Amino acid sequence: MDEQQPNSVWTSNSFWKRSAGWVTGFAVVLLMFLTFDTMTQITMGTDQDLKDGITKRVPAATVINYQIGYKMDYSRGHEMPVIGKPELFFGKTWSVKEANQLLNLGKLTEQSKDCMNCHTLLGNGAYYAPDLTKAWLDPMWKKGGVMQLMTHTKTKEEAMAAFLQYPVKYAIHVRKMPNLKITAKEAQGLVALLKQMSSIDTNGFPRGFSRNVQDFKQGVSNAH
Ligand code: HEC
Repeated sequence: MDEQQPNSVWTSNSFWKRSAGWVTGFAVVLLMFLTFDTMTQITMGTDQDLKDGITKRVPAATVINYQIGYKMDYSRGHEMPVIGKPELFFGKTWSVKEANQLLNLGKLTEQSKDCMNCHTLLGNGAYYAPDLTKAWLDPMWKKGGVMQLMTHTKTKEEAMAAFLQYPVKYAIHVRKMPNLKITAKEAQGLVALLKQMSSIDTNGFPRGFSRNVQDFKQGVSNAH
């Protein structure tokens, strides 16, 4: 016998070659579909969406002009961000242009100060310090909460901005955040970033971010 005949399909080279071709082709089509699906899911909403009450996974920068709360969604089995009534942010309502500029400043500051070296944002970064994805919704910033009392401020955003500029002075954990020489304007940008990030529907990630059961039962009304 000079040539070996395949005695079953499992030992046939051409079968495996064809199978590899089909599997690769199928995976390419599936990945293309998933890419397009993801693109539509993560495309930022517009200011008009917010005005029309249309919920997008990633709301526009002007979401900083609204209350953001959270409530348990039992059908999905996790907490969901809820965009509520309009509210002032650092004492004003931000136009589309201003809100985008502030958010960009926040993103640039976040990158240049390397917050992810210690924190996690939207699943990226470290766990040396608290996850920041939903930091805006942390009950400690709310009215009457420890941070507003300590920083002598009257709003969440002012309390956060004060903490970011003077994290050692307003430290609440034994493990302290170092002073990163963040300016007042940069702090505003970072708070805008944190507020917008908290409004993103992250499928309930990070799990149990609300920590405080009472808070998420009360939803938006208790958010500020
Ligand atoms: C060297 C590590 C480090 C870096 C870099 C860092 N942080 Fe922190 N951060 C910490 C630690 C530690 C804490 C907890 C300290 C505390 O609460 O007093 C903290 C706390 C915080 C909190 C409060 C968390 C909460 O539960 O609401 C916020 C908000 C915050 N950081 C934002 C930032 C931002 C924004 C940046 C980037 C500009 C940043 N941090 C960079 C270490 C860091």
